Amino acid sequence: MASLLRSSARLRSVPRLSAVRFLSTSPHLRAAEKPFFPDEPTAPKVVTAIPGPKNQQAAAELDQVFDIRSLNMLTDYTHSIGNYIADLDGNLLLDVYAQIASIPVGYNNPNLLKVVQTPEMANALINRPALGNFPSSEWAGILKTGLLKAAPKGLNQVFTAMAGSDANETAYKAAFMYRRQLERGGPDADFSESDLTSTMVNQSPGSPHLSILSFKKAFHGRLFGSLSTTRSKPIHKLDIPAFDWPQAPFPSLKYPLEEHAQENAQEEQRCLAEVERLIKEFHNPVAAVVVEPIQSEGGDNHASPAFFQGLRDITKKHNVLFIVDEVQTGVGATGKFWAHDHWNLTSPPDIVTFSKKAQAAGYYYGNPALRPNKPYRQFNTWMGDPARALIFRGILQEIERLNLVENTAATGDYLYAGLERLAKQYPEAIQNLRGKGQGTFVAWDTPKRDEFLAQAKTVGVNIGGSGANAVRLRPMLVFQKHHADLLLERIEKIFKL
Ligand SMILES: Cc1ncc(COP(=O)(O)O)c(C=O)c1O
Repeated sequence: MASLLRSSARLRSVPRLSAVRFLSTSPHLRAAEKPFFPDEPTAPKVVTAIPGPKNQQAAAELDQVFDIRSLNMLTDYTHSIGNYIADLDGNLLLDVYAQIASIPVGYNNPNLLKVVQTPEMANALINRPALGNFPSSEWAGILKTGLLKAAPKGLNQVFTAMAGSDANETAYKAAFMYRRQLERGGPDADFSESDLTSTMVNQSPGSPHLSILSFKKAFHGRLFGSLSTTRSKPIHKLDIPAFDWPQAPFPSLKYPLEEHAQENAQEEQRCLAEVERLIKEFHNPVAAVVVEPIQSEGGDNHASPAFFQGLRDITKKHNVLFIVDEVQTGVGATGKFWAHDHWNLTSPPDIVTFSKKAQAAGYYYGNPALRPNKPYRQFNTWMGDPARALIFRGILQEIERLNLVENTAATGDYLYAGLERLAKQYPEAIQNLRGKGQGTFVAWDTPKRDEFLAQAKTVGVNIGGSGANAVRLRPMLVFQKHHADLLLERIEKIFKL
């Protein structure tokens, strides 16, 4: 997340460009692109400085009882609609940040509102099950018609969790248990006496010195295990004891890609060689490699399908599991339902984790041996949430009804082309434009990034950052070409300020 979002500086009012309504509408809207949200405004509305007086007052009140130093914008969810986020002062911003990339089908989506008004949802909410012990007879059906219907190719099982970090942690646990069970001689081999006693004092062999390999600048969450694989910023990790696990370099590609093909291929080979070296030599043996298809929080860093195929090959060769963290990339944002669908892998990942736009969380897998050999090894009270799984099913239906993955691919291409034009005009302001062919998962570097993000609000757009210098676009799947027109127009307006 942008450092801006973590700074209290945000609470200061950003200068107000003008308190006028922006009345221009996009050529696509004028050319009758059918909006997914017919009641959406045709343009953002900025009527006060941001934050305005009501927002400032509400923030001060909240500050008395809740730490607001990471506050971006106090939000009026009742008046937010589709791609537009409302504040308390009547400002309505085009939202291309979407709750840190986690809103899939628009604020106050009418079909999701119907999903929550069903007796099935009421039942799930007021009788929340401890899923490992007391799942309902409907749970299989909810999974099959929702989360499993969307499962990545080759994976037909799901473990549901609570959040992205939890999805990754539990995936790591599955990987470690799988590995140790293989070492013991298979699923039926029993634990040794020394396994049982040593684990109670956090010692090997019961608590083994195994590791998960992640990449520099990776972000996989903030719980204890996931945090040890997160390498994006010190502030995330400081003061928290960490596992002694290896990190490999992630390719640092040069843009435009077409002009640096050979150098970039060499860079990817360098990183793959380092992955293989670490797997062979790291003192705590590597049970799994975890990777984001596009490093998101760490600055929107991309690599080619060949790199990921290389990773798959190395992990297979060394019998190490390949975990793909699709928490931010998954559910349509890259113009494919799963970002790893872009890679044409020769065999599927062993585990794919998800959260954010799924509005539910967990991991998919295919190999039955990734179910631990005994019950209660991968377990907690809730183990996910049927209410969230029902919402996921509603999201999936909306994605299918409106062809939102195709929409995101087409809108992304259109948006990228517009940004390429702007980059030619403003080469200082748009550097290293990236995400071509990756739906709306687009980013670029800009020298005064945090200033840019603050100015975006004054022209009616809510945008996020990633890493040190990147502006990252993470619109919803209902973001259309007429929204892209508005966004491009506002971005140019900022450059002209
Ligand atoms: C790729 C990735 N993995 C994991 C996480 C952690 O998810 P959560 O914040 O839901 O725990 C994030 C959050 O930004 C993420 O982007």
